[in-house]
Amino acid sequence: MSPHPTLTNRYANTEGKPEFVNQLFDKGAKHYDGIVDWGFLRSGAGYRRWVQQRHGLKKGHHLLDVACGTGLVAVESAKILGTAENITCLDPSEGMLGVARTKLSARFIQARAEAMPLADNSFDFLTMGYALRHVTDLEVAFREYARVLKPGGKLLILEVTKPVGRISGFLFRIYFGRIYPFLSGLFTRSGDAKKMMRYYWETMDACVPPASVLQALRNVGLTEVKRNSAVGLFSEYTAVKA
Ligand SMILES: C[S@@+](CC[C@H](N)C(=O)[O-])C[C@H]1O[C@@H](n2cnc3c(N)ncnc32)[C@H](O)[C@@H]1O
Repeated sequence: MSPHPTLTNRYANTEGKPEFVNQLFDKGAKHYDGIVDWGFLRSGAGYRRWVQQRHGLKKGHHLLDVACGTGLVAVESAKILGTAENITCLDPSEGMLGVARTKLSARFIQARAEAMPLADNSFDFLTMGYALRHVTDLEVAFREYARVLKPGGKLLILEVTKPVGRISGFLFRIYFGRIYPFLSGLFTRSGDAKKMMRYYWETMDACVPPASVLQALRNVGLTEVKRNSAVGLFSEYTAVKA
């Protein structure tokens, strides 16, 4: 199941998506942290730490952060774990990984969620922050998550979800569809940064609904599949490997 229909204004078919997405993040990497910082009113670090604590990340856990990007999730994980030595960060974008490597001494792997060069049953906790829309197939990625988690291991997927209400949906569209990409371009003076945030919106707009994500998690055999939604916008998908 694709997380959204093919965005033919960006790439011709599913085969072209990984290359397009990779170039987008390679070029946008140096701007990413700044844009996310003001765009989410400086709430990002605190929220990323709080949500992992709330869902049970504990000292001693071996953690895999899929789509680690510039390390915004993993840096907060390291504060909870007290060390980065049991953290593995995975991302296909060398540009994003390059920034993350300057922030923490975790293990870094350049790969995609759909094919992870990692051993079965090796992690207690798996995170994926704001990247669900970038995989080519949800079930292929989730099957990989189920494979690498230890029995009893938990996954936590964070995502921004378009609200269903008319007024909230309208405000969301104006902010993420217009204001955020425009200001991203203006503040960074970078067309690449603007394009990255415009694509961010296009994928949120086209994304399958939460019920489909939950069903895809169940379809790969994960249990205790749930979605918690903070202020109706921030989806926290969790599941456990039996
Ligand atoms: C919006 S950034 C999120 C970064 C970080 N997790 C955060 O919380 O800010 C999305 C990341 O997903 C990565 N990505 C894109 N396609 C991916 C795939 N198929 N598998 C894993 N990561 C992918 C991109 O390279 C990028 O670093």
